[in-house]
Amino acid sequence: MLHKHPPPAVTTRRDCPYNARMQNTASFEALKAHFQTLKDQHLRKFFGENPNRFEELSLKLPQLQVLADFSRQRLNGKTLDLLCDLATACGLKSARDAMFAGEKINNTEKRAVLHTALRSSDDAPVFVDGTNVKPQILAEKKRFLEFARQIREGKFVSSSGEKFTDVVNIGIGGSDLGPKMACEALNHYADGPRIHFVSNVDGTHLAETLKLIPLKTTLFLVASKTFTTQETMANAHSARKVLVDALGEEAVQQHFAAMSTNLDAVSRFGMNPKHAFAFWDFVGGRYSMWSAIGLPIAIAIGPDRFEEMLRGAETLDRHFKTAEFRENLPVLLALVGLWNVNFFGFLSQAILPYDQYLHRFSAHFQQVDMESNGKSVHKDGSLVEHQTGTVLWGEPGTNGQHAFYQLLHQGSQIIPADFIGFRHSLNPLGEHHKILMSHFLAQTEAMAMGKNLDEVRAELKSFDLSEEEIAFLAPHKVFAGNRPTTTLLVDRLSPFTLGMLTALYEQKIFVQGVLWNVNSFDQMGVELGKVLAGKILKELNGGAAQPHDSATAGLIRELMENGFDA
Ligand code: F6P
Repeated sequence: MLHKHPPPAVTTRRDCPYNARMQNTASFEALKAHFQTLKDQHLRKFFGENPNRFEELSLKLPQLQVLADFSRQRLNGKTLDLLCDLATACGLKSARDAMFAGEKINNTEKRAVLHTALRSSDDAPVFVDGTNVKPQILAEKKRFLEFARQIREGKFVSSSGEKFTDVVNIGIGGSDLGPKMACEALNHYADGPRIHFVSNVDGTHLAETLKLIPLKTTLFLVASKTFTTQETMANAHSARKVLVDALGEEAVQQHFAAMSTNLDAVSRFGMNPKHAFAFWDFVGGRYSMWSAIGLPIAIAIGPDRFEEMLRGAETLDRHFKTAEFRENLPVLLALVGLWNVNFFGFLSQAILPYDQYLHRFSAHFQQVDMESNGKSVHKDGSLVEHQTGTVLWGEPGTNGQHAFYQLLHQGSQIIPADFIGFRHSLNPLGEHHKILMSHFLAQTEAMAMGKNLDEVRAELKSFDLSEEEIAFLAPHKVFAGNRPTTTLLVDRLSPFTLGMLTALYEQKIFVQGVLWNVNSFDQMGVELGKVLAGKILKELNGGAAQPHDSATAGLIRELMENGFDA
């Protein structure tokens, strides 16, 4: 039964709620003054002055199976108090409640933002335009999880009647990164068909994937919220052609399924409507792995474990909704990030998971963070007067240590980093986990404490070097330290904790978007290049020359006159 209630008011440019300017609040002024007292203080001093610093600035949350340590950030308890005041002054509580309640907080596209409803297991209705969307979410989840079960159990089979051995997910951006990240992260739990991902329109991606799969027993999933994305459609049509050439037109219905909000376009592709799974425009692409877009995850690990992943995210959401800001993990993670961006001016952020399974975690959050908060106008269209967004990136430890940590330790810019580690390994192998954890702990200590000139000189002296050699080498060996890090120590990587961690970073991004007063849920910055590519494609097909800058015009001429693979 549909529950009805009056639709919430649509936000407009002039009538934009939660439109606080953080820099106009008294809390921001207080933070500015407070910053002056801390900005030059070294983490050595912070730790030296307060033996309880770790206890005071870390948060153990057994229900989330995580301990978060902020003591290696360049702040103290008062900073967190003031940052929490700032969050209150910016209307974070009402903004958060508005999101969970289905208000149209994506004000440019007039859409609700309800990925949280996808992972909610309670009966509370959530209304969009007066309709409770919970029943349709549950019904669709039941459908796609049942489909996953049938594939895994060999009840839904290939056109030759065989069990599917391989699944190829064709999608890009949010229709690729989240599911791929989760499939890699949960590979330890995977006992279904092998899952492959094709995203790039570069034909190499599909060609190389086709080399790995037996077509006869491969299911293609076309994942696209809009079902118009050029790269995905090009890959889907090419895969379809390869399949039809090998197995005939009639194989398409059995070997293709789709996840989309645009079911008309899905049926035009020639897919069996029974194999088309819906989601809705209140689910942002980069927040969609909890919807039917998560089908490859469910096929890999099974419906029950997929539900566990949702429970981890739901538990984080509940914590986010109910905990006081000062004890609220996503709020603190966001505020500490904002402190680094808007006060220290540290504009890059690394996420460094000490777990090989999480090797796509930073790549996924690169999209979620940078596409959400890479904005320079407020929600009402006025220009922001403060920095928004960060350049987010990262690779797993210990690999990163042998690649880019040199710059993290001694570079001329400071890059705050989140270190994510696990108490228990999923692959205990000799001393490996202990070694891994020793690096995990050592890096944050080294970044915080560094090694000063006196210490370096004393060490060099013990090597029996001349004064001249010591004087030359010492500056190269100094570590300034005072490089801020956050540590997240999680019990074990599981569907639950992956769901928790993913929701944690999603909500962190939401909180920052509220304080920066940007719309975190549109992505208009990807349009210009897309439209231009459409025009250039026509020219590459021999169409009339279009006006371009002379560099583009010159390069098009070069390709057309001197050849390229058309
Ligand atoms: O890059 C822009 C974008 O719209 C992303 O936000 C989205 O995740 C991606 O393209 C793919 O879109 P779709 O799921 O509609 O194919």
